[in-house]
Amino acid sequence: MRSIFLSVAALAVVSFAVNTVSAPAADDRTDRAGFNYGGAPEYDSPPLAKNDNEKQALAALGEMTKGKWHLNVTTREGRVLRQLTEAVGAKRVVEVGTSSGYSTIWLALGVRAAGGKVFTHEIDPEKIKMARENFKKAGVENLITIIEGDAHETVKQHTEPIDVVFLDAEKKGYVDYLRKLLPLVRPGGLILGHDMHRPMPDPRYIEAVTRNPDLDTSFIMMESFGISMTVKKR
Ligand SMILES: C[S@@+](CC[C@H](N)C(=O)[O-])C[C@H]1O[C@@H](n2cnc3c(N)ncnc32)[C@H](O)[C@@H]1O
Repeated sequence: MRSIFLSVAALAVVSFAVNTVSAPAADDRTDRAGFNYGGAPEYDSPPLAKNDNEKQALAALGEMTKGKWHLNVTTREGRVLRQLTEAVGAKRVVEVGTSSGYSTIWLALGVRAAGGKVFTHEIDPEKIKMARENFKKAGVENLITIIEGDAHETVKQHTEPIDVVFLDAEKKGYVDYLRKLLPLVRPGGLILGHDMHRPMPDPRYIEAVTRNPDLDTSFIMMESFGISMTVKKR
């Protein structure tokens, strides 16, 4: 009985910490999620704005990292999302799990040059409100469409080819999102899954992206939350 009580108490403490964590101070090698990357600070130089639009977006992203953490990707992960999206020349990105819109803004930076758009799915009206405000501050609201509601239903609205999918909602849902969106991902397109290291990913998702001969998957940034990077083969 005592051990059950202690386990429940420990779970409550962990859950409280996960849900209310504030952004820890970041130094050159430790990000706001508390991951220490080691390595020399010069490998971690901040992103530089090429023009005024980018300057506005980077400033808004910087402000967001000073506020409350809404289970957002880290800054390093956000930059990689932007880099991958821009590298494939993405015109249509689908994100599942907007929260306050931090990752969405990085994705928007990745589609801007190609004249693309980000479609982001979110179920929580409070988060949608917060994200809308952040998109305005970042000056990327015209690049983003928020699709409100349960993404298990709303992802069915997509009919056009997708260049990049970014999954970052509840982990148990990834397999269903993949099943529904994969047919629309164009050959050469990417499916990115967040939280492949922690919190624990769904083994069914790992299996789905590693056992399908039409796909090729690497796991990157595993010293952090971890991202699965899957290419749909041509
Ligand atoms: C980890 S947060 C997303 C963080 C965001 N991608 C970022 O890095 O800035 C997960 C979000 O998924 C949303 N979510 C969970 N289940 C959902 C569902 N079935 N449909 C749509 N959104 C969902 C939650 O409300 C939460 O805001």
